[in-house]
Amino acid sequence: MLIEPARNLQSLNTLAVPAEAEYFCRAQTEEEILEALAWARQRQLPLQVLGGGSNVILAPRLPGLTLQLGLPGKTLLQQSEESVLLQVGAGENWHELVVWCLAQGYYGLENLALIPGTVGAAPVQNIGAYGVELSRFVVEVETLGRDDGARLLLSNRDCEFSYRDSVFKQGLRNRQLITRVTLRLSRKPQVEISYPALQEALNADPTPAAVFEAVCRIRREKLPDPVQIPNCGSFFKNPVVPWSQYESLLQCHPDIPSYSFGSPDQPQRKLAAAWLIDRAGWKGRSFGGARVHDRQALVLTNPGRRDADAVLALAREIQISVQQTFGVALELEPERIGF
Ligand code: EPU
Repeated sequence: MLIEPARNLQSLNTLAVPAEAEYFCRAQTEEEILEALAWARQRQLPLQVLGGGSNVILAPRLPGLTLQLGLPGKTLLQQSEESVLLQVGAGENWHELVVWCLAQGYYGLENLALIPGTVGAAPVQNIGAYGVELSRFVVEVETLGRDDGARLLLSNRDCEFSYRDSVFKQGLRNRQLITRVTLRLSRKPQVEISYPALQEALNADPTPAAVFEAVCRIRREKLPDPVQIPNCGSFFKNPVVPWSQYESLLQCHPDIPSYSFGSPDQPQRKLAAAWLIDRAGWKGRSFGGARVHDRQALVLTNPGRRDADAVLALAREIQISVQQTFGVALELEPERIGF
């Protein structure tokens, strides 16, 4: 296990903010993870965990040890005519997993194509796109305690998944490291095409491969490739508002896009943050070196590779403006690390 002091992390986060880890280590096996945890514990150093670095905003200096999890592996645990149970290492690339599963005839993940990042990061924010969330497939998540290295298995229910949220952002925040994720996938082609943009792009009875292709095409049209223009995907969550607030917004803005949310006894409405930002006039605008993407207003880009403060300053301006225009609070979506 190699511990590197003063490691530059600019190439390890897709927003490309300049950041330096006091110490850095990439762990490829469970033994290396345990060794790294013990190393930090002995020195009483704080620990930061990095996956693909695609949904994070890094502080300029990350104190203590920054641990990148590279644990590989795909293991077929069970197989029937209906479904498979697949265990995947936290370090596997998410999109490569989606491609591999489709090639094997393990269906379900097509709508989640091209989401950047690693498998281990996926349950933390319960990645979701085009009408499908990861929580639909998770059977179990295997973790190690950050403080004691003890193994803890969490069932789907234990993960407390909801929209862009899980126990790993709440009760177990900064307490467990995800090492493996077990998914149940279908061996019978099953497609989910309820999302309007996807429906428009497909014919009536599409195959999983057609859904995969359509999702890739839509994403490539709207979302900037972080290799070319640094970004970390959606910068804000789609806000959920009480039904009464939705109704009064609808009176002034009859075309406001919204989605059902919550239970019938407590009806709420999820709004499209991209639309609110767009309507508030931010699309394509720059502020202090950061920029609102011109094809999807929910994505902030960092073409000048400025530090986190520059991007967060633009985010704050947008939050104030959307609050003033619509009375809606926008919450940051990526994780802030080291602040
Ligand atoms: N819209 C605008 N202006 C824009 C972009 C979109 O008015 O600049 C409108 C669209 O017309 C549409 C609505 O806003 O009516 C929603 O747009 P879109 O379908 O592009 O999805 P989104 O709600 O903005 C969410 C996810 C994306 C995911 C897409 C597709 C969140 C925070 N974001 O975006 O996830 O790919 O749905 O399912 O939930 C990510 O998390 O990084 C991410 C890209």
